[in-house]
Amino acid sequence: MFNPLTIRQDFPIFTHNPQGDKLVYLDSAATSQKPQVVLDAITQYYQTTNANVHRGVHQLSDRSTQVWDESRATIAKFFDAHSDELIVTRNTTEAINGVAYGWGDHNLQAGDIILTSLMEHHSNIVCWQELAKRTGASVEYIGLTKDGRLDRTSLSAKLSLPKVKLLALSHVSNTLGTLNPIAEIIAEAHTLQSGIRVLVDAAQSAPHLPVSFAKLDADFLVFSGHKMLGPMGIGGVFVRSALLQSNEVRPWLFGGGMIAAVTTKGTTFTDEASERFTAGTPDVASAVGLAAACEYLSKLHMSDVGQHDLDLVLYALDKLSAVPQLTIIGPQDFSETEVDRVGSVAFTYNGVHAHDVAQVLDSVGVAVRSGHHCTMPLHEQFGWTASVRASFNVYNTTADIDALVAGLAKVRQVFNV
Ligand SMILES: Cc1ncc(COP(=O)(O)O)c(C=O)c1O
Repeated sequence: MFNPLTIRQDFPIFTHNPQGDKLVYLDSAATSQKPQVVLDAITQYYQTTNANVHRGVHQLSDRSTQVWDESRATIAKFFDAHSDELIVTRNTTEAINGVAYGWGDHNLQAGDIILTSLMEHHSNIVCWQELAKRTGASVEYIGLTKDGRLDRTSLSAKLSLPKVKLLALSHVSNTLGTLNPIAEIIAEAHTLQSGIRVLVDAAQSAPHLPVSFAKLDADFLVFSGHKMLGPMGIGGVFVRSALLQSNEVRPWLFGGGMIAAVTTKGTTFTDEASERFTAGTPDVASAVGLAAACEYLSKLHMSDVGQHDLDLVLYALDKLSAVPQLTIIGPQDFSETEVDRVGSVAFTYNGVHAHDVAQVLDSVGVAVRSGHHCTMPLHEQFGWTASVRASFNVYNTTADIDALVAGLAKVRQVFNV
């Protein structure tokens, strides 16, 4: 039985932080809190197993290598992928950069089009702008509807442009909360543009929904461990194995650990996909921590995690829409069969800057994010200078949202609006 109050007890931050149990943490889309099992797994690795991987013949190195391989396998299983398809990075941003350098630089040329959308996080925009500068390709943006969904007419029109080589799209928007019908879009992309590659940014979906790399038929899927109860400093990109085997995607970091042979004249790289893309010493402890987070989430059942998130999103929409000073951002009218909104509710407060709202909320113990949330093109599109975002995870309760609403009453008092 999924019970956020019991789950909350697994997270030491709610008792160990300076605000004590008064902390109402509504900023999980920026980074999630970590359960004790994740912290323990990391400590235990350093206490019992720490040694460099793939390099030693001694037992400890063997054991560390085994733990690294097992952790990769656990993370891959969580995403319904094979561990050979997983390239470990520090986070989503590094993963997208990796695809830009490792795939884009070798496969794009002048005149090609990279397609992304106006709801993307800067990571899924800036990397492509830089890739376009290097290759002579251009970046096109899929438009949005007024209610913050992808404009499917714009998507189809852009997908029909000649020479679209990549579609890079978020599964869930970090500002609008919009859940894109990603499987349907991937199918459309493959129908309209043969040879197109599709990258799914799962940074905001993986913490809340079951995500299957095998079923999505995407070429690349990127994620950050720290948003899904894992430690900071680890994330990854899943790459369709055919692209690895055919060398369509090539290493973008070079050095020890990824080579077959090195001479003064040149280097050959190992055929082993997981090693070819792991230059230098990997962050084994963080992989162990992320594997523990994946196991923790799996035990909670991702379908229940998703249902809990949905309950919080609907509760927040209901309570916040009753506050007359707020304009809520992102989808609010849903079909009877599907609520295409996940993880967060953001809003503007008429007459008060988002940072001021967040500061007053902080004074009553409610931690929310304010600003542009790394989505400046989205904010510009809708004419928002900044917004306030409340985002959720497994340890949040409806009482947290009630505390947010009570905090907004204080904003009203302080600013007299
Ligand atoms: C949708 C999305 N993509 C990418 C990122 C970048 O993640 P990171 O900072 O972990 O690289 C974020 C972070 O908020 C995000 O929400």
